[in-house]
Formats: sequence, C-alpha cells, structure tokens
Amino acid sequence: CGIIGFTGRREAAPILLEGLRRLEYRGYDSSGIATGTGRQLHIRKKAGRLQALQRLIAEYPAAGCYGIGHTRWATHGGATDRNAHPHTDQTGLIAVVHNGVIENYLALRQQLQSQGVIFRSETDTEVLAHLIAHYYHGDLVSAVRQALQLVRGTYGLAVVSRQEPGLIVAARWGSPLVVGQGTEGRYLASDTNALSGWVEKVHYLEDGQICVLTEQEWDVLDQRLASVPFVLQELPSDLNDGQADKGEYPHFMLKEIYEQPEALTNAMRGRLHEADATAHFGGLNLTAAQLRQVERIIITGCGTSYYAGLVGEYLIEDLARLPVEVEYASELRYRHPPIDPQTILLAITQSGETADTLAALREANRRGQTTLAICNVVGSSIAREAHGGVYLHAGPEIGVASTKAFTAQCLVLTLLALYLGRLRHLSVSQGQRILRELQALPEAVRQALQCHDSVKTLAEKYSHATNMLYLGRQYLYPVALEGALKLKEISYIHAEGYPAAEMKHGPIALVDEQTPSVFLVPSGPVFDKVLANMQEIKARGGPIIAITSGNEAEVAAIADDVIAVPAVAEYLQPIVTVIPLQLLAYEMALLRGCDVDRPRNLAKSVTVE
Ligand code: G6P
Repeated sequence: CGIIGFTGRREAAPILLEGLRRLEYRGYDSSGIATGTGRQLHIRKKAGRLQALQRLIAEYPAAGCYGIGHTRWATHGGATDRNAHPHTDQTGLIAVVHNGVIENYLALRQQLQSQGVIFRSETDTEVLAHLIAHYYHGDLVSAVRQALQLVRGTYGLAVVSRQEPGLIVAARWGSPLVVGQGTEGRYLASDTNALSGWVEKVHYLEDGQICVLTEQEWDVLDQRLASVPFVLQELPSDLNDGQADKGEYPHFMLKEIYEQPEALTNAMRGRLHEADATAHFGGLNLTAAQLRQVERIIITGCGTSYYAGLVGEYLIEDLARLPVEVEYASELRYRHPPIDPQTILLAITQSGETADTLAALREANRRGQTTLAICNVVGSSIAREAHGGVYLHAGPEIGVASTKAFTAQCLVLTLLALYLGRLRHLSVSQGQRILRELQALPEAVRQALQCHDSVKTLAEKYSHATNMLYLGRQYLYPVALEGALKLKEISYIHAEGYPAAEMKHGPIALVDEQTPSVFLVPSGPVFDKVLANMQEIKARGGPIIAITSGNEAEVAAIADDVIAVPAVAEYLQPIVTVIPLQLLAYEMALLRGCDVDRPRNLAKSVTVE
C-alpha cells in the first residue's frame, strides 16, 4: 500500500491525489484521503482505481491545507469503500492511514467492542483509529504513542486529528516512511517515488521513530518522545528523468519490454573491465580477499526476482563454482538454516521494499551474516540495509509484471558470477570471451524483440486457452517458470512452469488438444533432449509452441508454431529467451481485455508479509 501526507501553504487534496497516482503501483484496489479545515476533517474514500476517488473529489471537494492519503492493497477485508483508508474513530476525531499488518488486531478489536466501540470496517487498521481516539486528550503525539504500545505487528502510519489543524503524526515499525521539506510545506510518503519534484532531501524514518510535522516545523522522536537528531539525504536522482512516462507506448509493460536492450546496456555500463577480463562493482563493500573466502551463497527474493535468483544459481555454480541455494524470502525468514561466516546472503529485489525479502535480509544481518542486495530502486530499504550491493540501473519499472528488471537482474548476476569466477578459477581468456559475449547481448535482445509480430499471431491462435504448460531445461527451466508467471499475472490464464523432462511425472496428465505447451528449445547440449520431450507431448495430442535458438527445421518438424530467437552463449539464453514469453503474455492479456499494467489482485511492491 502507499501513504502520502502534506501540510503547508497549499490545498492538500491535489497534492495528495498526485502522490497517490505516483504510489498506485503499491496497490490499487481502493484509495482515500483525509484533509482538514478549521476543526473539521473531510474524508473521501472509494473502492476501485484512483480515478474513482478523483471523480468523487471532483464532485465533493475536500478542502484544507493538510491531509493524508492512502492507496490500498487489501489484506484484512475486501476492496470496498468501507475498508478503504483513511479510517476514523466513532466521533470523527481521528483519521489514520496505515501500511503493514496489526497482528493482534482481533484481540484489540474484541476489547474495544466490549467497551461499546462499533466497528465499520473489517480492517486491522480501524483498531488504530479507535485506540488513538481512546487515548486522545488534546495531544495527538502522546495518543499515538500510547496506542502503539498495545500494538503487535508492522506499521507505517500517518494520523491527523480535527482538534489539531495542520498537524500530522507519522510512525514507523517495519513499513517504510520518508519525510521531506519543500518550498510549500512538509511532506511524508511511504517511498521517495511519491516525492520527486517536491522535495530535494528526505529523512528515512527508522523503526520506532515518530515524526511530527506541521507547516512551520518538524521533529523526529524516539519511543519515549525524546527528540532525536536526523540527517537529511538527497532524493535519488533517477526519479526525475521522465522515464515514468509511457511515451509512445500504450502500456508501461510494453515500453519496459522494449527498453530492455538499453536497460541491459545501462546495467553493464562502467562495469566491464577489459584489462582484468572481469566485471567491477562500486558498492559490494567486500574486498577481493574477503570474497575469495566465501564458500556458499544463499539467494533470496520473491516472485520474478526469485526466478532471477534461480538463474543466478546456475550462473554462479557454473562460472564461479560456488555452491548456491535459492529460497523464497517468505520461507527463509522463518527458517534456521545452518550458516557459517563463509556463507553470504544475496537478496534480489526490484523495488527494494518487498516485506518478506527485507525481513529475510534483516534476519541474516541479525545473525551476523554478510548480506548483499541486487536492487533497482536507489535508496530503498533493502539497498540501505544490506552491507553492500549492486544497483540494476534499469530505470523505473512501473508495469506490475516485471520485465526489464528480470533481464537486468539476470545480467547483473552474470557479472557477479564472472567477477567471482575470475577471483577463483576462470582464466583470462575465458573472462575475455565472456566480456565479448556480454557486449553483444543488447543487440541479441534487440533482434529477439523482432519476433513481436509472430508472437501476436500466436497470441490470436491461443488466447482462448485456459491452461498452458511452460517447459524448459537447465538455464531455461527458471525461464519457463517466469514465462508461466507472466501469463498468469496479466492474462489470468492458468499456466505451469516445469522442467521439460520432469513433466512426465505428473503435469503430462493435463495435456490434451486444448492445452498448449510452450517449449524452450535452446541450441547446444540440451537441444536433442528437449526435442524428445516435445515428442512426448505431441504423442498425446497437445499443441506445441517452440521458442528456439537451435535448428528451426528440426524444431518445426515437431512443433505447431515456432518462434526463433538469436543464439547466444548458454548462460545468456535466459535473457534472450524470456523476451517472446513477455510479449506472448502481453498480447494474450490484451486480447482478453485485461488491464496489463495493473492486473487484478496484484501490487508492484508488496510491503506486507
Ligand atoms: C510483486 C510483484 C512482482 C515482483 C515481486 C517481487 O509480487 O507483482 O512482479 O516480482 O513483488 O518484487 P521485488 O520488488 O522484490 O522484486
């Protein structure tokens, strides 16, 4: 979910709405604002996309020069007007917006109900409004503090009271908040994306901190309400370069698919080191000697970033001969894997804010492990809390389904594998060969994009499917998983990714004339093996779509449809092969009338566990 707040010399509502527009990627099933004038709060909230709220406010304006806003990704309670934030107490004294999860909300709710409080929503957040009102005796800061002492869980929250016009109180535990000062007032938001152009410097609240903002002043307090000094940091510079604009493309997702050659070039820029035949990074914060001591890497992430991690496992074991394990962050955070000082944790995340990935990283930090992050968003929580890391420099990714971040993640993992390999056993000539292959990669991706027209035709043929299989082996097994995920996310067609040879141990039972299989058929050692797997599906009447960099005639003899992609070194095949899969998901979703950039039920950045 996204939070925005403003208090200053201008009407707050337009600022809050613009902030919510910029934050919509964090959730978009409902939104709302609270502004204040005199001793009155004006609450406007609505289920559905932000436009619904904009229409409501056009009809019923919310006046006032201070206010808070929220865009929601539902956790407790469906996407309804009542469950939308802000939430208020019974008398309309307090309004609260909240990110995170109040874990003991049921107990608190029952307690409040037994005191006669009537709840109007199913959310966990509403208990905060009633609790704060309960403790409110003219001082919002101490009421918030007292209420939070009863709460277990995570929160980033912003609160206003009609008794204290112009004042916003914000508090953080586990869910990020930033505050900044602009020429027209003071701002707060759940991430810096919302603040570009308004403020130049920000303070990232730390867990346990409470921030008090009015037009004239601000203060950061600890849990005992003592002022703590805070240092302002520059807003990351890549926020303001106009990339968050669709340009000539109908959707962000398509724009981002087409940006990949450039994004890959940017991710490599300045990092290829001819003289040493290796890659170099500025921010690893580990010396070559320290990296030579590393004996194992645990990679973690969620969603598409997790799949990039699986590609990373192949890459690092292959090129650097270092054992790698990959685990979903949501699982890893609650496990106790045996670790030793020679094991490092590598978190992969586009946003740098995914709650589970952040928690897994913190757990590793707590245990004293060395942690690294591969991250796209500069200054994000994970980028700041990891000991070192590598930025993707892929530019802002707005489409909810990740595309250019995935290929940039695979590329950065390749660079990392090359670097680690060169510290160990890779020869100069092997390093030089890899550098040459990397330099040719953006052009190969450009060529792969030329399959778009054939993919469109393919989409027309298969858009009525209700089930699909995605099958690949070795480096292309994680790509099969990612291809299936892309299709599920944006076209709502059920799809399963599977290792091509493993499918005969179960999923093959799904195969019939109505269930197409997408086979990833690379040139090289597994080519013949995958052809054999294709025969197994063909023998059972399943339609076959093949994406291949191998001998097209041989593939066409078995497959119903063939899409060719350029042949590249085996370890770069994921980056090239995923392109037609991204386009296929996109075209299928369009044909089915789906909202490509904002698929139902999803959010770009999932900041709850
Ligand atoms: C959400 C997004 C996915 C993304 C995942 C991990 O579920 O919808 O596209 O892969 O989060 O996000 P991260 O920012 O950590 O890469």
